[in-house]
Amino acid sequence: MNRKRVIILGSTGSIGTQALDVVRALPDRLEVVGLAAAGSHLDLLERQVREFRPAALAVADPAAAQEMQRRLAGEDLGVFGGAEGLERLAAWPEGDLVLTALVGAAGLSPTLAAIRAGKDIALANKETLVAAGDLVTREARAQGVRLLPVDSEHSALFQCLQGAPAGSLRRLIVTASGGPFRGWTREQLAGAGREQALRHPRWNMGPKVTVDSATLMNKGLEVIEAHWLFDVPVDNIDVVVHPQSAIHSLVEFQDGSMLAQIGPTDMRLPIQYALTYPERPANPFPRLDLVAMGAFTFEQPDREAFPCLKYATQAVTIGGTMPAVVNAANEVAVGAFLDGGLDFLGIPRTIERIMAAHDPVPATALEAVLQADAWARSRARELLGR
Ligand SMILES: NC(=O)c1ccc[n+]([C@@H]2O[C@H](COP(=O)([O-])OP(=O)(O)OC[C@H]3O[C@@H](n4cnc5c(N)ncnc54)[C@H](OP(=O)(O)O)[C@@H]3O)[C@@H](O)[C@H]2O)c1
Repeated sequence: MNRKRVIILGSTGSIGTQALDVVRALPDRLEVVGLAAAGSHLDLLERQVREFRPAALAVADPAAAQEMQRRLAGEDLGVFGGAEGLERLAAWPEGDLVLTALVGAAGLSPTLAAIRAGKDIALANKETLVAAGDLVTREARAQGVRLLPVDSEHSALFQCLQGAPAGSLRRLIVTASGGPFRGWTREQLAGAGREQALRHPRWNMGPKVTVDSATLMNKGLEVIEAHWLFDVPVDNIDVVVHPQSAIHSLVEFQDGSMLAQIGPTDMRLPIQYALTYPERPANPFPRLDLVAMGAFTFEQPDREAFPCLKYATQAVTIGGTMPAVVNAANEVAVGAFLDGGLDFLGIPRTIERIMAAHDPVPATALEAVLQADAWARSRARELLGR
């Protein structure tokens, strides 16, 4: 069997390192031909290069790229720097599939470069579809490439939809753990701190997505992602809180039957499914013990205490550049919160104010999306005095 040749964008992050675990577990199925990162964890990146021996490496920070060139001088390896370097790697001819595990809208241009080069995409970087879902899905269709979801919820939906006849779907039900502040009132949330927000009850993830989970913006971004991935109207996508995080999402068909995908809270499973699709090879990862788990419970999300969920669905309903603006405002606000420069409720407050100031235009061209993204970032920074 030919091994799938994988390029990993964001290899030093939470998804990237877990993807490399999957490659380690399935050496006869998968091979790494390219790695990329921002450049903040050079020792780890160097170890990854020495272990996986990719043909090419991209580092977004040009100074860090030079440092890697120096460290890896004796290796048979191309090292590219800057944002263009990332795009070059994403389109690298030796790759069959690109895992986009960067964080934020920085993932958009390399994802488009990979699609235009005809690569299948294993998509973890949800911000790409939030900012430019119309453009990215159109381009993927035109190039005949697959967008294989990595997010556990979307992987679950994708798995449940395998073989479903056209017209049979009634709605998608995206599950949410509720995050560290489930059940908190707005008054309690006013005092929520950085360390508390970073303590997710179920998942161990990068800082940005962990804060997004605490505000429920993550679920809002996922509703937008599901809308574009599965071509389902937002009104037919529901969110339900399921604190055990064992049911990763469900679909309901027209006849009232529901299918759920259940598994351990381990991102390596959805990563593996995207990398080996449609195969399901055995792996050494832990299994779910249903009896030890006991009960599965469900509740409604609190959209008043956690308005980010509401803002995200409003943004996709308004359409055009509004989701890109919400995404960019959220990135700036979360960055400010993580730096200690903004209170927890300042995140939704900032997004609401930027949304109110934005006049959306169609998001069919990359330029329009990038302009809206830049506008929202600069307005948010101005608002936050940064
Ligand atoms: N973590 C999860 O369990 C999880 C689950 C579902 C979906 N996701 C999604 O997956 C994506 C990645 O999340 P994560 O938690 O893995 O993030 P993370 O741990 O913060 O890692 C981000 C990775 O992207 C790299 N990176 C950041 N900005 C970059 C840039 N401008 N150019 C090149 N590389 C850049 C980082 O490199 P450095 O190390 O050099 O900074 C790092 O390798 C996000 O979109 C997130 O929403 C994550």
